[in-house]
Parts: sequence; structure tokens; C-alpha cells
Amino acid sequence: MKTCLIRNIKSLVQVEPVNENRRFLKGPEMQLLPTIEHAWLMTEGEKIHSFGPMDRCPERADQVVEADGQMLFPSWVDSHTHLVFAASRESEFVDRIRGLSYQEIAAKGGGILNSAKKLQQTPEEVLFEQAWERLQEVRKLGTGAIEIKSGYGLTEAAELKILRVIRRLKEVSDIPIRASFLGAHALPATYKNDRAAYVRLLIEQILPQVADENLADYMDVFCEKNFFSVEETDQLLAAGLRYGLKPKIHTNQFNSMGGIQMAVRHGAVSVDHLEVINEEEIQCLKESETIPTLLPTAPFFLNDHYPPARQMIDAGLGVALASDYNPGTTPSGRMAFVVALACIKLRMTPEEAINAATLNGAYALEWGYQMGSIGRGKLANLFLTRSIPSIGYLPYAFGSDLIDRVMIRGKWG
Ligand code: NIG
Ligand code: FE
Repeated sequence: MKTCLIRNIKSLVQVEPVNENRRFLKGPEMQLLPTIEHAWLMTEGEKIHSFGPMDRCPERADQVVEADGQMLFPSWVDSHTHLVFAASRESEFVDRIRGLSYQEIAAKGGGILNSAKKLQQTPEEVLFEQAWERLQEVRKLGTGAIEIKSGYGLTEAAELKILRVIRRLKEVSDIPIRASFLGAHALPATYKNDRAAYVRLLIEQILPQVADENLADYMDVFCEKNFFSVEETDQLLAAGLRYGLKPKIHTNQFNSMGGIQMAVRHGAVSVDHLEVINEEEIQCLKESETIPTLLPTAPFFLNDHYPPARQMIDAGLGVALASDYNPGTTPSGRMAFVVALACIKLRMTPEEAINAATLNGAYALEWGYQMGSIGRGKLANLFLTRSIPSIGYLPYAFGSDLIDRVMIRGKWG
């Protein structure tokens, strides 16, 4: 297997101790970002082989790269995206500037239903090509593992179509991908007077096919006022689990309705958004293994309030950060900006934000032992920064593109 030696790294960031993999980081642990100054790292094939300080640098490798002044990071792990969609929605963006709210636009048939209409009319091949381009774009921005949701289909044919696009992305991409089935993203207009019939369609008709074709890893629901109730979420999550799909849900974006407690009862891998969260819900998460995932670019784009990350971490919780890349609330998959916003608006420190976007993000995809940090045997998905003075410079210089080169599975480019 081919080896690559990266020498004279200014700082090797997010390193694991020898023969150990750190667990999901919580509370004060989120502040610890282990780093080796003036370091080297060797890859072998797709994996990280070894690393250490320059005074003990190996002499030979198939390829040698000098990283003078540059820092080496593990790739971002973006654990929440809606990367497959058919069209942008900038007219709703302008509607919001003129004063309409996200919920008002949705109630008029815009929003998710607008995206679903477009996706239903778009051929699978076209969807694939567009999504492939977005995936290549975020790859260049340092994302080295990603989750992608369905949820813009909302009919049997279109949900299966979007999930097959995600499966094809999984097959051809070098970036590891997890898929989530989000048929319960919005209620289609045709089911306006019979909500139960749509939930039945999802559970009895679509879910068995999703499972049969192995099209999803997780079950997602948008648990929110005017979308899906806690009772409907309960039914959907229970059904997903019967087919082996663990829950990973949207909840507490605009309202606190009991979605967190419900998801925790079903052993959810993560609960995502949490712009609105109370003490009781924070306590419930503390007593669980469910990961709170924050998506700060969504409230940034909607000009809404941010999740209380400081309160959550100070209470002892660990959080993950993800982009939520989608055409309605975050038309961007730039994880460096997510990290910057987490520092600027959520008052997370650079160390906490980087941990949340790498190792904790990997745990939010159940890949904590394979990705998200620099550890022996972990996947060699990495990025080299431009020459920067310190780790804090990365979120500080929020408008600069500071990623110089990316390596995916031991290969540059
Ligand atoms: O995570 N909140 C639900 N889903 C997406 C937005 C979907 C859309 O507006 O198209 C989100 O923000
Ligand atoms: Fe989302």
C-alpha cells in the first residue's frame, strides 16, 4: 500500500492518544483539542498510519509533502444535510426580506412543498448530477463525511427517487455518506384533510420499500407545529425502528413540544436544531446518549434566534455542529462558516466548535471510531490549511477560504 508523509506541519490538530479513541466529548471535555506542534503524519493506503513530533520523523515514504507553516486537521463531518434538491428558492428569501416568516411562506404552499413539487418533476439523472456537483463543492471546503436526507419527494415515487440518488452518491463518492429517510418532512397538500393517511402511507407503503432496498440508515421526522406532531413522530419512529432505522430527528426549531423527550425514549442517535430548548429538555438529554446537533447557519439565514449552546455545554452536554445544507434555510454547506458562527453567535470557543464539527459530528453518524480525529487506523480524510497563526484564526477570519488542500482516503485533491 502506498504511503504519504506530511512533514513540518505547524500544528497537527485533533490527535488521539496512542492506542485510544476518545469518546463523544461532553461539557468541559469539549474545550480540549489535543494538538502536536511541529509534527509529521504518515498515511498508508486509505488510513492514517502514524504521526508524531518532527524530532522523530520517519525518513522515507512513497510521497513526501512539506507543510511549512500549515496546519493539518481531520476533515469536517457534516452530520445533517439535505444535499439532494431540484431547485434553489431565492424568491422566498426575498419574500422574507419583505417581511414574511418561514412559517407563513410554508403555510402558503412554499417552502418544503415548493421543493417537493420541483423534485417530483425532475428526472433522477438530473438530480444526481446537481447533487454530485454540490458534493464536490463541499468536499473542496473540507467536508470528509456527510449525511444526506430525503424529504423533498413526499410521494412514494419521489421519496424512492431521492433515496436512490443518495444511494448512487454513496456508491460513487469517496466521501462516506449516511442516508436518512425524511418522508415526514411536510404534509403534502393532497393529504390536508387526512393526516393519518399520509402517516400510514409512509409507514405501510414507503418504509418497507426503503428497508427492502436498503436505502436509508436513519429515520428522520420534522417534529414541529404545522408539520408533524409528537404523537405522529412517535408512530413514525417506532415504525422506523421495526425496520432497523434508528431515529435522527428535526425538533425544537421553532417550538418546544416534547419532541426531544420522544426521540430520547426511542434511543435517537441525535436531535437536531434545538433553537428552542428548556431546562427540562437539557436535563433529559443529559440523562441520554442522544446527541444534540446544532445548525447555526439555519437561524442565521432565517434571521432567527440561535440555540443556547453555552447553556447546554455549561450544563455538561456535548454538542455536534452541522450545516443543514438545503435550499430553504441554509443554501450553504461551508462547514468553516458553521464553525465561525458557532463561535460568533453561540459563544462556543474555537476548540469547542472544532470538536463539535469533527469528532462529535462523527459520533452523530456513529462513525466516531472511524473518522473525526487524527488516530491510528482512522480514515485519512484530512485538510491542510493555508499558513495561519493559530487555531482561533480559522473562525476569526470567517470570510477567508483558509483550506489549501484536502486529502480523502489517503489521496490528495
Ligand atoms: O432543517 N426544518 C426542516 N427542514 C429543513 C428546511 C427545509 C426547507 O425549508 O426546505 C431544515 O431547516
Ligand atoms: Fe434539516
